[in-house]
Amino acid sequence: MAGPIPSEVIDEVRRAADIVEVVNRKTKLTKKGKDFWGVCPFHGDTDPSMKVDQGRGTWHCFGCGAGGSVFNFVMLAESLPFPEAVRSLAASFKVNLPEQELTPEQTRQRARRAQILHVLAVSCKFFEQQLHSGLGRKAHDYLFKQRELSQATVADFVLGYAPDAWDALFRYLSGQGVSLELATEAGLIVPREKSQGGYDRFRNRVMFPIRDVAGRTISFGGRTLGDDPAKYVNGPETDVFRKSATLYNLDKARQAARSKGRVLLVEGYFDVVTLAAHGLTEAMAPMGTALTATQVRLLAGLGVEIVLVFDGDDAGRRAATRGLNIFLEERLSPLVLWLPKGEDPDSLVRGQGVKALERMLAGVGPLLQAVLDDIIKSGQQSSPEGKSRLVAACGEILGAVKDPVTKSGYIEYVADKLSLNPGLVAGRLGQPRGAFVVNRPPVTVKSPGLNSQGLMMELALSGAAAARAICQAGILEEIDQVELMPIARALMDLVEQGHAPELGAVLQYLAENPAACATISRLAINTEQKPVQVEEQIKAWRAKQRKSAATRLNKELALALREGDLVKASQLRQQRRALALSLSSGEE
Ligand code: UTP
Ligand code: MN
Repeated sequence: MAGPIPSEVIDEVRRAADIVEVVNRKTKLTKKGKDFWGVCPFHGDTDPSMKVDQGRGTWHCFGCGAGGSVFNFVMLAESLPFPEAVRSLAASFKVNLPEQELTPEQTRQRARRAQILHVLAVSCKFFEQQLHSGLGRKAHDYLFKQRELSQATVADFVLGYAPDAWDALFRYLSGQGVSLELATEAGLIVPREKSQGGYDRFRNRVMFPIRDVAGRTISFGGRTLGDDPAKYVNGPETDVFRKSATLYNLDKARQAARSKGRVLLVEGYFDVVTLAAHGLTEAMAPMGTALTATQVRLLAGLGVEIVLVFDGDDAGRRAATRGLNIFLEERLSPLVLWLPKGEDPDSLVRGQGVKALERMLAGVGPLLQAVLDDIIKSGQQSSPEGKSRLVAACGEILGAVKDPVTKSGYIEYVADKLSLNPGLVAGRLGQPRGAFVVNRPPVTVKSPGLNSQGLMMELALSGAAAARAICQAGILEEIDQVELMPIARALMDLVEQGHAPELGAVLQYLAENPAACATISRLAINTEQKPVQVEEQIKAWRAKQRKSAATRLNKELALALREGDLVKASQLRQQRRALALSLSSGEE
């Protein structure tokens, strides 16, 4: 773990890295005209739908909509966080990353993290040894007999046993010269309040080491073997363990997920372990907490189908429904399998066999559809008022769907279920009817259909000069289309910080926002930029703004007059005069 990489160095890496060479390592590219095309490695692509623009350093898939810079590509393809992607590219294109000048505080932190990781590794060994010692008899029986696990699986997951004592680990660590303070910082020992020393956080438990993506033990989950009311205890947040950014088994399952084209998201540690024991090695679980956006991004980075496998009881359905919005934010549409009530993957596989689960998995459907079905089933479908409420409830969810094709598909789905015109459903998302019926552009299409905000952003991304002019005209601040806002913000920040607001810099700035990168890559498809008159476009934008302001004022005025609000009417007339004046003089 090093300090942040200076932005000039990242610029250098971006310029040095040949995107065609990088993409070619994953999928064979063929040159057509001045662009390169290949089969997209991030969805079940058969024809080449991915275009790579060597000059601009961008890629875009017309099939799944993913895209961005060379950094994004590596982040997605290798499941790496941004700094690691930069490091990996720096290594292959021979850019020297300067050994960072760390502040004394950073140096101290880095050393501390290394010590904590060491203590965790030592403790992992200790728990593993205890399982196979005489003391671990009960845990041994529990895992091998009750849970029917094999030696190989237990060894593979490095399961262990925390003895039924207050200070077994504490004494062991002290013997190894580990201080109470360090053992506490590692989350393993809890200091005593009234006396010296500390006691073991995990006692009489089966131990699950939790690893980071690099395979290092960063914490533990422990299941009680007794009647402790806390069935599971998880390690606390530490300098090396961030629950919200961790998925149990991510390190081992990501390869399997890639080769199988899907990842299974389950709720518990034992679910992951039992599934792996039965050949379903592509399972992961959150840390016993609600799914977070960071975890969803980790899943998204795998570039495979996401299948949630949850208990079909009400709590399980609520949990999955809560997670839906986070997936939609990331433009993902996961599938869901509701298990029979009271079953989890572990109990189902051990009770009915893995074949039964695989049969169920073959019939899974989208979570979005399941949630809409649940809503529709829960309400009054026969009365107009009931339908209206249902449309509003579904509309709330559909409003969060970002992909236009998915959105229009589900608008039709809900409309069909309620025997309504799709326009009525679309109207309830607070958007003009028909706005969502956008077809996925076929591979040969050069320019995607863009509205005026999209066109303005396309222009802003065509070069630093255009971006500066648009920024200076204050237009970036007026961008209010949700998917364009982060891009506008990035351009403004770059200008403010004195960087050239050019395509590569924007992509780099937004490298950790895959949705924004995909949008940028879509906007940047036009390589043959027609010579655009930026000034003219800005004028046209202003004129349009004024026209819609005038329309709005006229409407409000009519309303005020109808309601007899003469004070308001006179204010509105004044505003209209001011607007007309600025129109005729052609100023801002
Ligand atoms: P469940 O209660 O569904 O347990 O918790 P399980 O996984 O089926 O456990 P077994 O089969 O009885 O051993 C699911 C997950 O929620 C978290 C754990 O991560 C667990 O794996 N959990 C549960 C806690 O963190 N604390 C608890 O007290 C219970
Ligand atoms: Mn269980």
